[in-house]
Amino acid sequence: MKQFLVLFALLFSLSRVQSQENLPTDYLSKEFHKERRDAFRALMPANSAAVIFSYPERVFSRDINYNFHQNPDMYYLTGYKEPDAVLLLFKEPQGTEKYSEVLFVRERNAQKETWTGRRLGVEGAKSKLGFEKVYNGKDFKDFELDFKKFDKIIYDESSPGIHDNTYDPADLFNLIQVFKTKAGIINDDKTSTETYANITNSLREIKTREEIELMRKSVKLSCIAHNEVMKAVGPDMSENEADGIHAYIHRHYGAEGEGYPPIVGAGANGCILHYGENNALKIDNQLLLMDVGSEYHGYSADVTRTVPANGKFTPEQKAIYDLVYEAQEAVFKICKPGTPFQDLNKISREVIANGLIKLGIITDPKDARIYYPHSCSHFLGLDVHDKGNYMSALKENMIFTVEPGIYIPANSKCDKKWWNIGVRIEDDILITKDSYENLSAESPRKWQDVEALAKQKSNFNDMKFPKI
Ligand code: GLY
Ligand code: MN
Ligand code: MN
Repeated sequence: MKQFLVLFALLFSLSRVQSQENLPTDYLSKEFHKERRDAFRALMPANSAAVIFSYPERVFSRDINYNFHQNPDMYYLTGYKEPDAVLLLFKEPQGTEKYSEVLFVRERNAQKETWTGRRLGVEGAKSKLGFEKVYNGKDFKDFELDFKKFDKIIYDESSPGIHDNTYDPADLFNLIQVFKTKAGIINDDKTSTETYANITNSLREIKTREEIELMRKSVKLSCIAHNEVMKAVGPDMSENEADGIHAYIHRHYGAEGEGYPPIVGAGANGCILHYGENNALKIDNQLLLMDVGSEYHGYSADVTRTVPANGKFTPEQKAIYDLVYEAQEAVFKICKPGTPFQDLNKISREVIANGLIKLGIITDPKDARIYYPHSCSHFLGLDVHDKGNYMSALKENMIFTVEPGIYIPANSKCDKKWWNIGVRIEDDILITKDSYENLSAESPRKWQDVEALAKQKSNFNDMKFPKI
């Protein structure tokens, strides 16, 4: 009877943490992930195995972790969103069962799930993700497979900062140790991180229909957020508050969060490329550079708009803004299949160098790099700086950013009227059959349109909170 009660309690608590139906319905399907695994397998060399680990968990505060973010390759290939997992893919079917993939997942545990959330477990991974062969992570150790028989083992040397959780014999740390022991990996030249990179680059640089749909949504809702902040912003607003409006709108539309730490910098702070403190109390009568993009079901937008907080560009701000705009327009013109990826950067650099000479800010075109120190474009997708082959030519269904910028910090060697102007305009571009589509066109880029929108009122302007 006692045993029965314990069993009943266990089943009851598992079902209690398991039932959650009130969820978005537009996640990638299990068919998508399976098709991606098949595409991965097709690119594997003969007699090889691929080993893909989840990302490690990261400490936020003592015994509290950051919200977990999955390794985008693991997510892409499985849809599994939890830590402490490993996926094995085989070029040729294995064993008498002729299996070609195995997934090891976190074991279900009623007590842990009450504390840190639901787990899919073996059964969930089978029913929800469509895997046939799934085990608990602790079973990896005794899983019968001779890794040494493969000519090549394709894997990614996992990200740093993995620590051993002494309470869990099946955490990521141990899964990696088990794999290395099984495969006899100690500087073994049979392992190939290069093949891994080549395969994942060539798969992920071309987006499927399902991915484009999610990207569209992520970029669209990010544009709505940018537009709302353009309207809401004023000299008295803080950088952090502007950041918070973006975050609120992202979540309003169902995004899980942001694809990267938001960059919301006023004046001098806008000249710091990856500024992330966002803590200036007053934006004042300065330019506000906002590089903020949502993450929607794993897919990151990456949009930058630069807006005068008081709704009007000064002549110097306008001159710099217009030059960045001109560089972006020149790049858009060559956005079509066949253009070498590197040309995007080249042409934006030429336009900005010529413009800075005309404005008397530099005399030698080589010095343009001082004020435009980053490149123009990167692939965009599950990672904000997504995987792809940066030496190749543009192809249909690639998505990348076009983001020229000019940053003139105080004490730069030019007339001080230019100091503390930082402008970046960043859009997300989809290559179509013979041209391109600007996925972020919904947020204005022309200075006239930015000024016009900044003059409008936002719902956020009417929000009142008690003084503290
Ligand atoms: N948000 C980072 C970048 O634009 O690359
Ligand atoms: Mn970017
Ligand atoms: Mn950006």
